[in-house]
Amino acid sequence: TNGVVTLDPGYKNTGACESAITFLDGEKGILRYRGYAIEELAEKANFLEVCYLLIFGELPTKDQLTKFHNDIKAQSQVDEDVKKILDGFPKSAHPMGVLSSLTSALVAFNPSSVNVDSEEDMYKAIVKILAKFPVLAAWTYRKRMGLPLDYGGESLGYVENFLKMMFRKPNGEYKTNETILEALDKLLILHADHEQNCSTSTVRIVGSSHAGLFISISAGIAALWGPLHGGANQAVIEMLEAIKEDGGDTKKYMAKAKDKDDPFRLMGFGHRVYKNFDPRAKIIKKAADSVLETLGMDDDVLDIAKALEKEALEDKYFVDRKLYPNVDFYSGIIYRALGIPVEMFTPMFALGRLPGWIAQWREMRLNKEPIGRPRQIYIGETLRKFVPVEER
Ligand code: SDX
Repeated sequence: TNGVVTLDPGYKNTGACESAITFLDGEKGILRYRGYAIEELAEKANFLEVCYLLIFGELPTKDQLTKFHNDIKAQSQVDEDVKKILDGFPKSAHPMGVLSSLTSALVAFNPSSVNVDSEEDMYKAIVKILAKFPVLAAWTYRKRMGLPLDYGGESLGYVENFLKMMFRKPNGEYKTNETILEALDKLLILHADHEQNCSTSTVRIVGSSHAGLFISISAGIAALWGPLHGGANQAVIEMLEAIKEDGGDTKKYMAKAKDKDDPFRLMGFGHRVYKNFDPRAKIIKKAADSVLETLGMDDDVLDIAKALEKEALEDKYFVDRKLYPNVDFYSGIIYRALGIPVEMFTPMFALGRLPGWIAQWREMRLNKEPIGRPRQIYIGETLRKFVPVEER
């Protein structure tokens, strides 16, 4: 503090806003969306219902949900010219970079969604991005695989439609697997919002300048990409694979994670707020076991993950720092079992977090929040005179 501002790097102790969307208690491992416990929603709701709940504050009636889904389906076309932008990327481009670009490109194809002030215009922009983002995510994957880009099917549910766009055969055939659909729906619900995390704060601060919804979401995708945030779900699997390659020597990696001079961190561990378990990790860990069993698969990196968790829970370094598995630690095990490739793990996080970003952006705009503009403590040079280059 210098009497004017209190320095708070990473905003560890700063409340950026008042919000009525998500409540979490880091000590007790509680997470609720609009007052509903995540455990109940993961069990009993579907992802589109949770999108509606987060954005509008109430669980929808049957009619409201049907209208919401129809309004989304009516907007599911993506301008064919967006494919030309997609064509410009090398196949090796990371899908998060492609998705952030294509989401900001959507602005050009939907000019009416740029400066929205009325709730009605916000609703139009909201159903557009909910409709088009899954298409962009599926197309990004299909392009990378050299597969045709197309749409799902009119009669399908929101998540089922996404799965069909991702995995339909080149001849158009697709058979829904209920286990895969249910597992993905649950994962997306568990990722849907998490109060003022890095990417959501990014969406809010970009939106606070009254930049439009789509470009704010594009900024959120960029922030989520980082390996300390949503990118961790990809980094966890890469870490587990490396440990497997290395003969499953978890002790060596635990030592690396504790070594101050080693930049290696145990990916999927630790959390800014949860200083106990992450309630989402508990649900996902259980779901990982049942999904693998139902699909008749096993994944030897799951055993490595469980061994790491067990060791960390008994290790002073981790216990002292209250480092537990977070949402990203087990999610990749399920994505992989669902046939989703590792480079699409963080895009799946983005698909899940989309309604949360939208809800938080909408709340920020409806509450007429001021433009975000933090201060600093200046530690640079005091006043000094310019010296012409000849004299330097
Ligand atoms: C998500 O905020 C959210 O809600 C995010 C999220 C959401 O839903 O939006 O929950 C999603 O991003 C989950 C987190 C995914 N990231 C990872 O799994 C990456 C690995 N985790 C860490 O980088 C870290 O734990 C963070 C980023 C999650 C939290 O960082 P903090 O709160 O800034 O904590 P810190 O870096 O100050 O660490 C505190 C101490 C340090 O040791 P000391 O300097 O005190 O000796 O714990 C150590 C750190 O070195 N530490 C770790 C560690 N995490 C923290 N040491 C080894 N391995 C780790 N994973």
